[in-house]
Amino acid sequence: LTIQAASALRATEPVFRDEEYADIDWNNLGFGLTRTDYMYVAKCTENKEFQQGELSDYGNVELSPAAGVLNYGQGLFEGTKAFRGDDGRVFLFRPDQNGIRMQIGAERMCMRSPSVQQFVDAVKQTSLANRRWIPPPGKGSLYIRPLLIGSGPILGLSPAPEYTFLVYASPVGNYFKNGMAPLNLYVDNEFHRATRGGAGGVKSITNYAPVLKAVLRAKEQGFSDVVYLDSVHKKYIEEASSCNIFLVKGNVISTPATIGTILEGITRRSIIDIASDLGYQVEERCIAIDELMEADEVFTTGTAVSVASVGSITYKGQRVEYKIGDEMVSQILHKTLVGIQVGRIEDKHNWVVEI
Ligand code: COI
Repeated sequence: LTIQAASALRATEPVFRDEEYADIDWNNLGFGLTRTDYMYVAKCTENKEFQQGELSDYGNVELSPAAGVLNYGQGLFEGTKAFRGDDGRVFLFRPDQNGIRMQIGAERMCMRSPSVQQFVDAVKQTSLANRRWIPPPGKGSLYIRPLLIGSGPILGLSPAPEYTFLVYASPVGNYFKNGMAPLNLYVDNEFHRATRGGAGGVKSITNYAPVLKAVLRAKEQGFSDVVYLDSVHKKYIEEASSCNIFLVKGNVISTPATIGTILEGITRRSIIDIASDLGYQVEERCIAIDELMEADEVFTTGTAVSVASVGSITYKGQRVEYKIGDEMVSQILHKTLVGIQVGRIEDKHNWVVEI
């Protein structure tokens, strides 16, 4: 989709700036919010289909104080990225999978959702309209944040009468503050992220605020993130606050099976496929914390995080350290994933969408 084609899909014409790159320091992008030019908004009222969306200037949104999302947390978010290839082409990575995941989440949270086609089109339009914010090759990516919220007013506990689908974007670099340095993870024995029958398996906004207490406590002690255990046995690893988790033992790569309490990460699924393509045996199953502590290597995956190697894990006062270095499985997987995302490595699964 060209910029012209994207703008043809809109009612009002934003004025695209010609410059190739916005004037910011591309060398120091972390995961902070940078204000970009445009966002996409579409609404759905009275149980009808979503209206055609429009790009508008990036800015605040107006909500009723009684909006379902503000009162009862009826909201979902997604995360996907646009990458600039070495030759300047721009790619999205599996945006349809985010659209499908939003639909599954919307069903769980009793919300209306945009079609996958509208979702992907909105992500494309938002990326192209904010093209000058897509970092130069090797400096990061444009993180795209689609939101689906119950925007209509509702006082009693019930689904909202109106939904808003909104997409905004921000250029980002590394998610963790120490860049690509191996993570030091803390296994929390008190707080849990999700419970059986809850909404841990979908990208509900309600999965994130409850972990802040555990994350802040761990960060104060110098850890990068928290790993949660299952809430029934307090024994099996689930995921970290911001990413899925994998372990490597010999030629076998294992990750917790998604049984409703673990987010079905798109990077998680892609890494499972990449690892299988590269000849590793990949297992999705219950993994006890003891097994994690005895692994050769541990790494985490996510859209924001990409693939991050883990240097240590601390559980009940015991700290184990893992081997790190360029030969690591996680480094091979990371290079392969990023290579596919920026169009440098053959995309045999048809994951990449050039826009
Ligand atoms: C993502 O990886 O896209 C996420 O949504 C995780 C979030 C905590 C930044």
